[in-house]
Amino acid sequence: MLANKITAEKLNLYYGENHALKSVSMNIREKAVTALIGPSGCGKSTFLKTLNRMNDLVPGVRIEGKVTLDGEDIYDPAVDTTLLRKKVGMVFQQPNPFPMSVYDNVAYGPRIHGIKNKAKLDEIVEKSLRSAAIFDELKDRLKKSALGLSGGQQQRLCIARALAVEPEVLLMDEPTSALDPISTLKIEDLMAELRNDYTVVIVTHNMQQAARISDYTAFFLVGEMVEFGTTDDIFARPKDKRTEDYITGRFG
Ligand SMILES: Nc1ncnc2c1ncn2[C@@H]1O[C@H](COP(=O)(O)OP(=O)(O)OP(=O)(O)O)[C@@H](O)[C@H]1O
Ligand SMILES: [Mg+2]
Repeated sequence: MLANKITAEKLNLYYGENHALKSVSMNIREKAVTALIGPSGCGKSTFLKTLNRMNDLVPGVRIEGKVTLDGEDIYDPAVDTTLLRKKVGMVFQQPNPFPMSVYDNVAYGPRIHGIKNKAKLDEIVEKSLRSAAIFDELKDRLKKSALGLSGGQQQRLCIARALAVEPEVLLMDEPTSALDPISTLKIEDLMAELRNDYTVVIVTHNMQQAARISDYTAFFLVGEMVEFGTTDDIFARPKDKRTEDYITGRFG
């Protein structure tokens, strides 16, 4: 049994009157991939964003309950959210490289965290691009604009940018839904590598993808987490009828 990296305890989230997360409790295992699945609007992105306090930025949001990272309450008022988000990085559905060079995209976070030494930055940029399986494709284009890359390259660059600050957890919200099948496969292969070093939480609408890449799966329905288990169990032996209906395509 793997250790718990993140725990959510009776987490409730309200966007104004909209009760978007209903008493969600979950243990997210260290150095494993956890997939969040469920129909549109069920709260997957909302739950993901509670794990690095991205929802704090939404006006009118109210959060009750507890989220811990390595046993520490991340909603404690003393927590530095910049440091939290360094530990818990995020990759979004649409690749969102900054309008600057490939190199500067990856060096951006380390520079913000105070690294100025050129040789050190060179090393971080190369290592991060290698970890995101894109160094060989981009090594001759480091000074070129990131906006000139293909969508799949941009997404791997965004993963490299997230890895550059040495996070412990990587949150990914439908990272391949805007990509072609070949780029999708590259990112799936990459996730198989990342799970050795990082705790990964990924939202996906693609059931085959969840089954292929994740160790654990959580099924959400209208703000509730209906079922959590090993991906093998969730897909082969779901306990809840609603989970079964969803994964067999009867709704959603
Ligand atoms: N910033 C926001 N302000 C107000 N309501 C929001 C906000 N973000 C999400 N919601 C609402 O919270 C609920 C859950 O939304 P969420 O984006 O978490 O769903 P999701 O499972 O990620 O859906 P999808 O699969 O379509 O991405 C929905 O009712 C949505 O309208
Ligand atoms: Mg979403």
